[in-house]
Amino acid sequence: MAKISGKHVLLTAILYVYITAVAVTARLLPSELPLHPYLINGQHKPISKIYDTSKYGILQLGNGLANTPQMGWNSWNYFRCDFDEKVIKETVDALVTTGLAKLGYNYVNIDDCWAEPTRNSEGKIVPDSKSFPSGVKDLADYIHSKGLKLGIYSDAGLYTCQIRPGSLKHEYDDAALFASWGVDYLKYDNCFNLGIEPEERYPPMRDALNATGRTIFYSLCEWGVNNPALWASKIGNSWRTTDDIEDSWESMTTIADINNKWAAYAGPGGWNDPDMLEVGNGGMTFEEYRGHFSIWALMKAPLIIGCDVRNMTAETYDILTNEEVISVNQVFLNDLLTPPSSSVIFANEISSDPLGVQGKKVDSYGPDGCYQIWAGPLSEQRFVLALWNRCSKPSTITANWGAIGLESSTTVSVRDLWKHKYVSLNSATSFSAHVDAHACEMYILAPVAAARSAS
Ligand SMILES: *[C@@H]1O[C@H](CO)[C@@H](O)[C@H](O)[C@H]1NC(C)=O
Ligand SMILES: *[C@@H]1O[C@H](CO)[C@@H](O)[C@H](O)[C@H]1NC(C)=O
Repeated sequence: MAKISGKHVLLTAILYVYITAVAVTARLLPSELPLHPYLINGQHKPISKIYDTSKYGILQLGNGLANTPQMGWNSWNYFRCDFDEKVIKETVDALVTTGLAKLGYNYVNIDDCWAEPTRNSEGKIVPDSKSFPSGVKDLADYIHSKGLKLGIYSDAGLYTCQIRPGSLKHEYDDAALFASWGVDYLKYDNCFNLGIEPEERYPPMRDALNATGRTIFYSLCEWGVNNPALWASKIGNSWRTTDDIEDSWESMTTIADINNKWAAYAGPGGWNDPDMLEVGNGGMTFEEYRGHFSIWALMKAPLIIGCDVRNMTAETYDILTNEEVISVNQVFLNDLLTPPSSSVIFANEISSDPLGVQGKKVDSYGPDGCYQIWAGPLSEQRFVLALWNRCSKPSTITANWGAIGLESSTTVSVRDLWKHKYVSLNSATSFSAHVDAHACEMYILAPVAAARSAS
């Protein structure tokens, strides 16, 4: 290949992979889909079958959204029912002034409690007159004026979990109302569902949203009860795989393990959702939150902030704004990232992943398997690797190439996404690092030989 700028390579590669992936999924029947779609970018040798991608590419609701997992903020984890339009507007301002919006956190999602307990005489849902006196349309206009998007919440049942009107049997009216306000995203919960199967209750809202003609992200919140990965692929842009997250190490690790089981079902268009981030809410240590954020990014989970962004500590800010970790989860098609420094030495060091394969736990050992290796293939023959120490003592954790799916002969550069520097330019066979108790170190591995031939 002729000598061209790194940026040109980056954009071309992203567009090529992306366009090819879309074309392939549009043309082929599921049974004909390539088992390893990440081989399409000029990769000749198959990667180990440890990454089951047999369901990859069939997850297309077809509304053009969720090519990468959604990012944004949601009111629930921090505020519960205690918020109003002032809080939301201040949050919008904070997302912009802190730079979080520019990093991709662009959905501002109002969770339960925004509505009056009963519909009005015309049968319409009404915003709570005390907390949202200016109405939702006013808020949507404000959010749009800042370049962000508004998400709202309803329920595939009689009532929401906090006993506001649910949308079951009101799907078309409610979707039309949300669209008329300028809503861009719907989180659709599962309370008071009358025991009707979710497979029956969730599609009508998809059709109702579609019928509005407004492009609206459809986030299923079915709590993983009926294993939605198995049936939600053409219904929603994401589906919760678990019960609600709590702000604790126990809850976060449990949820990560459950979401991990469904890795094969994620892909551009539809994502497994292990629930929103608790980073910054105080129930976990800095190291535990760093692991939470790392593993969510690696699992191609939605990155929805759940803390009070008007009042973040420096540590919370450092975690949520780590561009290198976010780029494992997202595609950046602009000059968003900090300009690469002289440390950039490989042409295939692209700062983004259009591939969208959910990384997973590939190996574990030690007491109760608490030394854990999580990894996943990225575009450009790269891998993301997380060494997660779920034991209560510090330890060295080793990832063997065989466990990750690298051939033993492959030499890679290793970039530390939290230290923001290369820790090796020529690792072979395995990689080890010291990891503190409950900490998680995260890396991108890029084959060195491939890098040379590309430049
Ligand atoms: C409605 O669904 C069709 C078929 O999947 C899709 O092409 C179209 O973009 C959707 N429209 C909206 C507004 O979501
Ligand atoms: C900001 O957060 C700190 C703790 O991090 C807390 O003590 C303080 O009350 C918060 N301030 C506001 C205005 O919420």
